[in-house]
Amino acid sequence: MKPYTFIFSTMSVDGRIAGETGFSRLSCHEDFVLQHRLRAQSDAVMVGAGTVLADNPRLTVRLTPGKSPARVVVDGRLRSRPDSRVYQGPGLRVLITSTRWGPEDLKPYREAGVEVIQAPEDSRGLVDLRLALEDLRESYNVRRLMVEGGGRLNYELLARRLVDEVRVTISPLALGSGTSIFQKPEARMEPSPGPLARFILVDYKPVCGNWLHLVYKILYD
Ligand SMILES: NC(=O)c1ccc[n+]([C@@H]2O[C@H](COP(=O)([O-])OP(=O)(O)OC[C@H]3O[C@@H](n4cnc5c(N)ncnc54)[C@H](OP(=O)(O)O)[C@@H]3O)[C@@H](O)[C@H]2O)c1
Repeated sequence: MKPYTFIFSTMSVDGRIAGETGFSRLSCHEDFVLQHRLRAQSDAVMVGAGTVLADNPRLTVRLTPGKSPARVVVDGRLRSRPDSRVYQGPGLRVLITSTRWGPEDLKPYREAGVEVIQAPEDSRGLVDLRLALEDLRESYNVRRLMVEGGGRLNYELLARRLVDEVRVTISPLALGSGTSIFQKPEARMEPSPGPLARFILVDYKPVCGNWLHLVYKILYD
């Protein structure tokens, strides 16, 4: 069984979570507080390798009371450095990667205290996320998983029907180009025949006056 999985993201009105040149200052203070509260209510927070490389996030709880969750990185090609901030400090830290790597490749992560989950790659060379999430629950008792992007990881989770809920804050600006909240990998897949999923709005609230936070449950056809 996989964890209950929700995406938290802050996007522009045109659905981008970062601009073409990497601009990603989309949140406001209240949105950050909400993000940290949701982290504190989760067993683990997960990001993709692209987000670790772009933002070097810590993924800890700092703006609200509460315990920091386990921190998880999906990195099939070992592009994230073992000294990245997400791998530092106390608490459980997990690298999800491919079964193609041997003990020597993984040694720098293990020496940094990082646990490793290995899952097979699919025909596109991407780690099998369903198996990885099931392992995360079975091996580390992760029942509630918060996903903080980026767009490629979000897309893959939605396309594989692994997302139960999406929480998105709309930031009052447009970027025109850049990474979409659900960013399809380039030239890796056939065109989608229709919507990936249908969203049911279950809650919403304004934040910082001019931002809007929306909560959706996900339905798959
Ligand atoms: N506004 C926000 O809320 C927000 C939040 C987070 C990030 N961001 C922004 O988003 C951007 C990063 O997004 P991104 O799409 O480039 O990167 P990403 O989704 O963080 O990471 C994608 C990478 O993860 C690895 N991966 C391994 N297995 C995968 C799988 N099964 N499915 C998908 N990915 C898998 C792949 O790298 P390998 O092929 O090397 O394995 C892939 O390129 C940054 O600019 C960041 O600032 C914004």
